[in-house]
Amino acid sequence: MSVDLKRLAGEAALAHVESGMRLGLGTGSTAEAFVRALGARVAEGLQVVGVPTSDRTAALAESLSIPLTTLEDVTELNLTIDGADEIGPDLVLIKGGGGALLREKIVAAASRKMIVIADGSKLVQTIGAFPLPIEVVPFGLGSTTLKIEAAAQALGLQGPVALRRTSEGAPYLTDGGHFILDASFRRIPDPKALAEALATIPGVVEHGLFIGLASLAIIARTSGVETISR
Ligand code: 5RP
Repeated sequence: MSVDLKRLAGEAALAHVESGMRLGLGTGSTAEAFVRALGARVAEGLQVVGVPTSDRTAALAESLSIPLTTLEDVTELNLTIDGADEIGPDLVLIKGGGGALLREKIVAAASRKMIVIADGSKLVQTIGAFPLPIEVVPFGLGSTTLKIEAAAQALGLQGPVALRRTSEGAPYLTDGGHFILDASFRRIPDPKALAEALATIPGVVEHGLFIGLASLAIIARTSGVETISR
């Protein structure tokens, strides 16, 4: 996505923000465009408080003087705005390309409303071309990976389940100190069944299937901004 489309999506999302709101702040380059646009409004006097979904977003929000809080102090949020790696029918999302899926899901679930912002390339008919991020605890990695592969196979899904690594080759660590497995199933025709199967596997902390969380998508294209409701 070009930077301009990210900015367009982020700025369009601002129309849904009202003074006094408690906001979930997503992670990734599109969410970052929103946070930057929000920072400009806060500098002009908009009163909001944000819960960041990653250390990265927290640092950005702090640099823009956006007041932050936690889900200990504020247990329910008005609105979360976040990006996605894929947006399928019924606004089922794949998230976690940026490694923040656990906090992103906790924050989205604590929000009355989640808006997903993206460019048109993220809209798909069937999700799964983007490898599904699955956050796992480091202990028992081999055994957990086998269980994920078996659960997927039982649903007719196949493909490599690979440990995410940094550019230096070390296992990628999430803000919560977990690993991420990226599952390249290519097509996930029944996300709900896969989500249910993954949730039963010990060692799986969370997965990047966001089902029933986003209620609005703001899609930026060179031709303009489209909104899709669930
Ligand atoms: C981070 C995410 C991001 O929202 C997702 O990866 C999209 O990122 P970008 O806006 O940079 O394409 O889920 O965990």
